[in-house]
Amino acid sequence: MAEKKKPAKSLRRRVTRKNTKLVFDKYEMYREAVQSPEVDVEFFQKAYKELRGRSAEVFREDFCGTFLLSHTWVKSRPKNKAWAVDIDPEPLEYGRNHYWDELTLSAQKRLKIFEGDVLTGQLPEADIAAALNFSYFAFKKRKQLKLYFSNVYGSLRKKGLFVIDAFGGTQCTDAIEDKLKRKGFTYFWDQENFDPVTNEAVFHIHFQPAGHKKIENVFTYDWRMWTIPELRDLLDEVGFKKTHVYWEGTTRGGLGNGKFTRTEQGEACDSWIAYVVAEK
Ligand SMILES: C[S@@+](CC[C@H](N)C(=O)[O-])C[C@H]1O[C@@H](n2cnc3c(N)ncnc32)[C@H](O)[C@@H]1O
Repeated sequence: MAEKKKPAKSLRRRVTRKNTKLVFDKYEMYREAVQSPEVDVEFFQKAYKELRGRSAEVFREDFCGTFLLSHTWVKSRPKNKAWAVDIDPEPLEYGRNHYWDELTLSAQKRLKIFEGDVLTGQLPEADIAAALNFSYFAFKKRKQLKLYFSNVYGSLRKKGLFVIDAFGGTQCTDAIEDKLKRKGFTYFWDQENFDPVTNEAVFHIHFQPAGHKKIENVFTYDWRMWTIPELRDLLDEVGFKKTHVYWEGTTRGGLGNGKFTRTEQGEACDSWIAYVVAEK
């Protein structure tokens, strides 16, 4: 996933230490540490219902990686159809090998995988298109991001919605490393730098499987930290009628509670995540 291109190699690295062999599955750890497809799919349907008064059927996942979101979408309702688009055959192959067989025959028929570039390819038509986990942050030039947004606009059905996520906060301008324990491994989110002149930052994901050495730079992201007003201006410029910001609520302890509501006013915090939803 937006990591540095490395020479082709097996997806599974063998690491031997203290006579124990570890089969290292980077996509499985990424899924456990970072992804929550059920929460996202629930959000998509909630937003579509709120803004369009009915349910969406056709979903497109841009930058889909292992297409876990599309997989969850087709599983969640018998009428749901999904398109999953990614430029890199490696995560697509992983998804085919690991997630495809979990689907019923009917769900398999409703999910189509498309290897291509979201900037240049003809994107399949959808009620909802989404680019999550900040994948579009890889487009650092305004012209490039505008081209992508414009391509999405052209691909949406009449009442279509485009959903992206964004993150920020004072913590995102610090070079810090966060650490989270997960079952069987530790996940590290490492911010290498932040350049206030360009708003660019480099992030790494490291994993340390229990009882083994830390495996550094499993995924690396070289991003421009787009701000919400910049994104809304661009979406407006390419033709979207309205944009909405869904901001995350907080628990009593001051952490994100996973519940997103529409607002025109955010709040200053160390770290925040929001969805931006654009109406065609
Ligand atoms: C950070 S991963 C995101 C994976 C997944 N969406 C998620 O939520 O975890 C970014 C993905 O974008 C893909 N990608 C990067 N540039 C692309 C482009 N121009 N067109 C299509 N996919 C692209 C990469 O191959 C990678 O799988």
